[in-house]
Amino acid sequence: MKVISIAIQKGGSGKTTTAVNLAAALRDAEKKVLLIDFDPQSNLTQSLGIKKEPAANVYTVLRKEAFGEQADLLEVKQVLHGLDLIPAALELADAELELASVYGREQIAAQLLQRLENAYDYVFIDCPPSFGILTVNALVASDYYLMPLQAEFLPLNGVRSFERHLERIKKLNKHLRLLGFVLTKFNNRLSMNRSVEEQLLEKYDATQVFRTHIRTNIKLAAAQEQGMDIFSFDPYSNGAADYKALAAEFLEKIK
Ligand SMILES: Nc1ncnc2c1ncn2[C@@H]1O[C@H](COP(=O)(O)OP(=O)(O)OP(=O)(O)O)[C@@H](O)[C@H]1O
Ligand SMILES: [Mg+2]
Repeated sequence: MKVISIAIQKGGSGKTTTAVNLAAALRDAEKKVLLIDFDPQSNLTQSLGIKKEPAANVYTVLRKEAFGEQADLLEVKQVLHGLDLIPAALELADAELELASVYGREQIAAQLLQRLENAYDYVFIDCPPSFGILTVNALVASDYYLMPLQAEFLPLNGVRSFERHLERIKKLNKHLRLLGFVLTKFNNRLSMNRSVEEQLLEKYDATQVFRTHIRTNIKLAAAQEQGMDIFSFDPYSNGAADYKALAAEFLEKIK
């Protein structure tokens, strides 16, 4: 079982879209995938069609575990479109304060995931756009992190600031590695998009930048709105083709 955090502080980078659709592409490749919504905004939960705040959610489990009970993530699992999801709710925002004084607060998610043993091939954690206790927990529990970057804006400042935080995380989790950057909302005709990629390749090894670009495709936003992954919504869209290609490259990289 490999655990992958999808993280970057910058909002709107395509974290949640990548979590849902990469997981869905892997589901279609017969892999066993678990999605964990670690963002109080609960976009991932909503993206899979859950409209009502789930009373049993990731925060219920985190809190139990933090305050000394042996908890089980799968207690709050829901299955949507053939994907296993640990949903979030707005109350997850309380984690920041409530867990602040808990001993071992950075390792709560890691403990919960260890208990799943090898129930899944891949676990994806959709992180919030901040570097607080939730993102720290996700990264401490992960083998890899994957960073979607919106190619339309200069995202490299965000990467630099993320790397400063990582120094701290690596002390708690020596195994954590970058799986790669994924350029999202890509438009090959825009020179800005190409220049973002060139800058990444100057600084990072080519193996750390996914060759697959996720093109701007309105169908991806529409699918999210309908509470569906792109393959269930429109399997012939560019968005479906791009996430399918990303999944193939993902499997090649993570071998
Ligand atoms: N390739 C794409 N083409 C068009 N729209 C996209 C694409 N990727 C994401 N979007 C849309 O952009 C918005 C932001 O994407 P998403 O929610 O995945 O970002 P995020 O990084 O998870 O944001 P946050 O940091 O707020 O959690 C969403 O409305 C989504 O539908
Ligand atoms: Mg998100």
